[in-house]
Amino acid sequence: MPESSQKSWSGRALIVGAGGIGEVLASQLADRCPHLTVTLCRRKPKDASDWPLDLENSESLSWLTQTLSNDHSPLRLVFNATGRLHGPSLQPEKRLQHVQPDALIESFKINAAAPLLLAKAIEPSLRRDQPFHYASLSARVGSIGDNRSGGWYAYRAAKAAQNMMLRTLSVEWARRFPEATVTLLHPGTTDTALSKPFQSFVPAEKLFSPKRAAGHLLDVLLQQTPAQSGAFLAWDGQSIPW
Ligand SMILES: NC(=O)c1ccc[n+]([C@@H]2O[C@H](COP(=O)([O-])OP(=O)(O)OC[C@H]3O[C@@H](n4cnc5c(N)ncnc54)[C@H](OP(=O)(O)O)[C@@H]3O)[C@@H](O)[C@H]2O)c1
Repeated sequence: MPESSQKSWSGRALIVGAGGIGEVLASQLADRCPHLTVTLCRRKPKDASDWPLDLENSESLSWLTQTLSNDHSPLRLVFNATGRLHGPSLQPEKRLQHVQPDALIESFKINAAAPLLLAKAIEPSLRRDQPFHYASLSARVGSIGDNRSGGWYAYRAAKAAQNMMLRTLSVEWARRFPEATVTLLHPGTTDTALSKPFQSFVPAEKLFSPKRAAGHLLDVLLQQTPAQSGAFLAWDGQSIPW
């Protein structure tokens, strides 16, 4: 899409998840598209303009559906930038004996189910003739075909499941919302809380700042058209094997 037409975009955009990448994505999108109202959705709002949203809470998702139904701005873009690799009850497994049932469920809840449930929550606000982007951060390690190093069972499998769910969504929306484009994106290894414990394995030149990652992601996303809906793309626009 030419830069001039992005500048004229108007309506509402939601960036969901105000982590290392999400927060910068919101500010860069607002700079690129000055007529777009960019709203950051996070579990604990910091500014009055933020919307409260917890993707693992069904009441919070219903609140989003209701809020959008009262919104006069057409919905132009929703970008899921949430995700979890580690936490108090979640550690990427090095081998099979580290796999824990609760950790598998936690990872699937946020990394696989949440992006699809977010799409379900915003769908009532879509219109058949309305150009719309739905993007979600996946990860190259969710590629089944590209898995050569093993480990990280829960995170890999949850991202692979997200890929299948959003690919399936792209097929449904192509029929019902032909102007919608669904895109799965790998940001490249980026210096955020999520990657912090694993950065010693990454050469310095391959570790992106959130600013650089967000810039690449928007470059790639805003080039996508409905005819390309359902793609799984890296930060440089290259297709990643499923
Ligand atoms: N960083 C990398 O190297 C890298 C590489 C490949 C893919 N990715 C993917 O990129 C995405 C963003 O990662 P990041 O690096 O920006 O990580 P991050 O800084 O840890 O951000 C993740 C964000 O997700 C939010 N979140 C978690 N659960 C949520 C929920 N239930 N509802 C709403 N928000 C929730 C967190 O919010 P709280 O602050 O409230 O916890 C946090 O702000 C993830 O999907 C990740 O898998 C990252």
